[in-house]
Amino acid sequence: MVIDVDNLVRKCIRDLKPYSSARSEFKGEAEIFLDANENSFGSPVEGSWHLNRYPDPLQLRLKEKIQSIKNITPDQMLLGNGSDECIDLLVRCFCEPGKDSIMIFPPTYGMYKVVGGINNIGVVEVPLLPNFQLDLDATVQSIDETVKMLFLCSPNNPTGNNFVREDIEAILNNFDGIVVIDEAYINYSRHKSFLPELADYPNLVVLHTFSKAWGLAGIRLGMLFASPAIIGYLNKIKPPYNIGSHTAFIATNAIAQLELINSQIRKTVSERERISDELRSLSFVEAVYTSDANFILVKFRNGTDVFNKMKDAGIILRDRSKEVLLENCVRLTIGTPEENERLIDELKKLS
Ligand SMILES: Cc1ncc(COP(=O)(O)O)c(C=O)c1O
Repeated sequence: MVIDVDNLVRKCIRDLKPYSSARSEFKGEAEIFLDANENSFGSPVEGSWHLNRYPDPLQLRLKEKIQSIKNITPDQMLLGNGSDECIDLLVRCFCEPGKDSIMIFPPTYGMYKVVGGINNIGVVEVPLLPNFQLDLDATVQSIDETVKMLFLCSPNNPTGNNFVREDIEAILNNFDGIVVIDEAYINYSRHKSFLPELADYPNLVVLHTFSKAWGLAGIRLGMLFASPAIIGYLNKIKPPYNIGSHTAFIATNAIAQLELINSQIRKTVSERERISDELRSLSFVEAVYTSDANFILVKFRNGTDVFNKMKDAGIILRDRSKEVLLENCVRLTIGTPEENERLIDELKKLS
């Protein structure tokens, strides 16, 4: 199967002459910068960030740091204001409003559908099988010429499981549009990332984020990895300075703390397994689904009732019981051991 990214991109994007920012026109060192209408007197905020100046539009220093942990070159990376911005840019790059569609596999992360709606893109929904795996037959039957992009969330939010690798490979080998694998929770997974497969699939896009294992949801930084051809088009349409200097500064420093992050991941995974066992021993718990993420999906005898009782006890969970396949299901994020103990104690009171 030959994939020509140029032909997948919307014609208006292919033809677009992108905005040329001051910092992309002049990149070198100089004594005096009077080219970007910044405040030359400085910013009111102390520190070494030079916040009166616009940031690097392509965040090269940060991308080199990311390269050191992901083994992916900067020309295969796009950074976004959270993965959510990356998802929006993808849809706007490849899907023609009023004409094209994306395909999603519910129950899954809600933003794919919302971004489709915002951009007036069709959203074809192929529900997962009862074991929360991909329904390949239904997927093949539902792909028509309008479907330009598939969103596979693995590990999947809110079910917590990885999709079977061979199923994802079957899709990659047979679908000639863009395949997005959202790996927001990959650091907690027993399974390997698809990042090393980038070289083999010019239509593959992998999403990672600083919001989960990296503990930086507040800075809003998402990573998109794809072929240089795809990255080139996304760079054309992204807002010129979409990543602030402070975000880049904090992320660069965080990468130096890889050991701390890895030890937090190990603690989260061990708590996940401990809590799963505790939950299984409760009489009103009907299922605790195996998780490859930092949350667990639990089916209770009455999910909404448990959600409300925990809220009254000061513990906020996520009621997912209205989603397809998820009757009476509640999603709970793994907390610190103390927080998890509180949760289990409060749940035991309901027995
Ligand atoms: C699967 C998945 N993708 C993406 C996101 C959004 O990530 P970000 O904070 O990087 O926008 C989330 C957030 O919950 C998520 O669950």
